[in-house]
Amino acid sequence: MTTRSALFPRNFKKDYPVAVRGEGCWIIAADGQRYLDAAGQAAVVNIGHGVPEIGRAMAAQASQIAFAHTSQFHNEPAARLAARLLALAPPSFRNGGRVYLVSGGSEATETAIKLARQYHLECGDTPRYRVLSRRQSYHGSTLGAMTVSGNVGRRLPYLPLMPEWGHIAPCFCSRCPFDLRYPDCHLACADDLDTRLRETGAHDAAAFLFEPVVGATLGAAVPPADYAARIAEICRRHGLLLIADEVMTGLGRTGKPFAVEHWGLEPDLITVGKGIGGGYAPLGAVLVGPRVVAAFERGSGAFAHGFTYQAHPVAAAAGNAVLDYLETHRLFDRVAPAAASLRAALAPLESHPHVAEVRGLGLLLGIEFVRDKVARTPFDPSAAIAEKIRRAAMDEGVLTYPSQGCVDGSRGDHLLLAPPFILSGEEARTIAHALSTALARVFST
Ligand SMILES: Cc1ncc(COP(=O)(O)O)c(C=O)c1O
Repeated sequence: MTTRSALFPRNFKKDYPVAVRGEGCWIIAADGQRYLDAAGQAAVVNIGHGVPEIGRAMAAQASQIAFAHTSQFHNEPAARLAARLLALAPPSFRNGGRVYLVSGGSEATETAIKLARQYHLECGDTPRYRVLSRRQSYHGSTLGAMTVSGNVGRRLPYLPLMPEWGHIAPCFCSRCPFDLRYPDCHLACADDLDTRLRETGAHDAAAFLFEPVVGATLGAAVPPADYAARIAEICRRHGLLLIADEVMTGLGRTGKPFAVEHWGLEPDLITVGKGIGGGYAPLGAVLVGPRVVAAFERGSGAFAHGFTYQAHPVAAAAGNAVLDYLETHRLFDRVAPAAASLRAALAPLESHPHVAEVRGLGLLLGIEFVRDKVARTPFDPSAAIAEKIRRAAMDEGVLTYPSQGCVDGSRGDHLLLAPPFILSGEEARTIAHALSTALARVFST
């Protein structure tokens, strides 16, 4: 679509094809071009595009009751979705947990920040408000979510609008911020939370927020197995709530319903978005653990927060239909084999002189590109390597999600791959072939 469209685009300097249809892992544009969606758009599309059951469920709900404000009514699809999410969550959530349904990941982050603050007020611990987080992270685009995010590029224009609540080191073994190696590092990156709390005092700290696997900003950086437990212990010791941002990793993307389940972690709050609606509806949620719920029940009873469209019946119907589809087709179980075939197809790329590594967990994968493979020197950001590779892969009919800044916030190029869980072996090979052609094209010039 040209920039003459009435829409305010993401980028006035880019042209966008018009998407008219979706079929499984494919998006079809108005000009008939078919694109293999290797990034699930942005780690959203888990069950695939164009599943008719989802549309039918949404239409049925819309013709029954499309909207009833949550200050006056509950609705059945929202209550049902909440119960089903708790059933998938770590065990502690099943005994007294609740779910706050919203319309996307950023709203989930905002809600979690405010839940953490009000939790401490309900407990009489009034000074606690700061939500600490990590550099090189992304938690959403609203101001609260950006305050906790650590993505330099996305924060830069808005710095004057954001307070600094404390960002600690990322957990990124491929490029350790302390220049150490696991396990000799003794998890210095986790201990950075302890250090920061000791330096600043923990008396006003409300929570720590982190992505179990860092998606957009680090390109699928997976922590060592004992990282999460160390973080949880530090939070407990200093009286902070622990919030896992599972907007990208939740609903099966890493091979478990929630990524924290890989490490047996029981956070106080889990935020979800993206895959919960599978792309069919704007939907997000905060799973609220029992001790937070109990504080509200015992205390004021009322959360000083709310969105007009929270727990929207049609969006919740979409969420239920997506979950039905995931369960009926046992799609959580498809993640590991689909990931194995995608990793196998991508393996030859790892010997490319400009590919630093392919990393990730389940169907959340990152490919990092470097100028010098031995020294791991990144490209100059102005070369826009990730964007060029995205463009070249798109010319080959494959959609990827490019990003810059994995080295230090501005340098470092990577692509994120997060295809639907139904990806076939042949589609995995098509992705690898398109990327190999794209690399040849970009690096021959
Ligand atoms: C980890 C994480 N948290 C939060 C968000 C924000 O979600 P949304 O774009 O739906 O507001 C994103 C979006 O990319 C994300 O990756």
